[in-house]
Amino acid sequence: MPTTSRLSAIQDWVATQVSPHRLKHIEGVAQTSGRLAKHFGLAVEKARLAAWLHDCAKELPRSEMKKWIRKAGFRLDASEERMPGLWHPHAGAAIALKKWGIRDNAVLEAVRCHTLGSPQMGPLAQVVFVSDFIEPGRRFEGVGTVRSLAGKNLRKAVLAKASMTIGFLFDKKMKVHPRLLETWNEFLDGK
Ligand SMILES: [Fe+2]
Ligand SMILES: [Fe+2]
Repeated sequence: MPTTSRLSAIQDWVATQVSPHRLKHIEGVAQTSGRLAKHFGLAVEKARLAAWLHDCAKELPRSEMKKWIRKAGFRLDASEERMPGLWHPHAGAAIALKKWGIRDNAVLEAVRCHTLGSPQMGPLAQVVFVSDFIEPGRRFEGVGTVRSLAGKNLRKAVLAKASMTIGFLFDKKMKVHPRLLETWNEFLDGK
């Protein structure tokens, strides 16, 4: 299927999978991802595609998420197994691969790493990771700082999201997945 008509089929389908509130968030992430991809000379259509799929599995029952993850042959690590809030990125990437036939590794990586990042993630995944945090619907304190960083230095924006998320989790006495810390450590050596 040509990319444009596939994207529009995916948009229609995602609208049936999530609440109106989440759909608005997804539209915001797609808009911001497209803009940042253009700004940094990356593939705009791929960024929009990954953004449209990033939260497509978020409202599925846990058993359905697990089914898709198994179907794609993806593995959750031991910490992820204990944190069901971290299943939807993997399930979303599994749906991208198995339902929509998307084999582009950069797109799959962007969906799969949108919550925790990854020390090795490429620029497209960085764009979606940051856009998930700064899309126009996000209103929390400090979001403006990350928005203005994102237009200048993508790696620093990744670092800012990682540090704000880790700070939030510490404050709330919530668990931090080691991969988020690995993302922080790697991007601290900003280029
Ligand atoms: Fe998400
Ligand atoms: Fe999201």
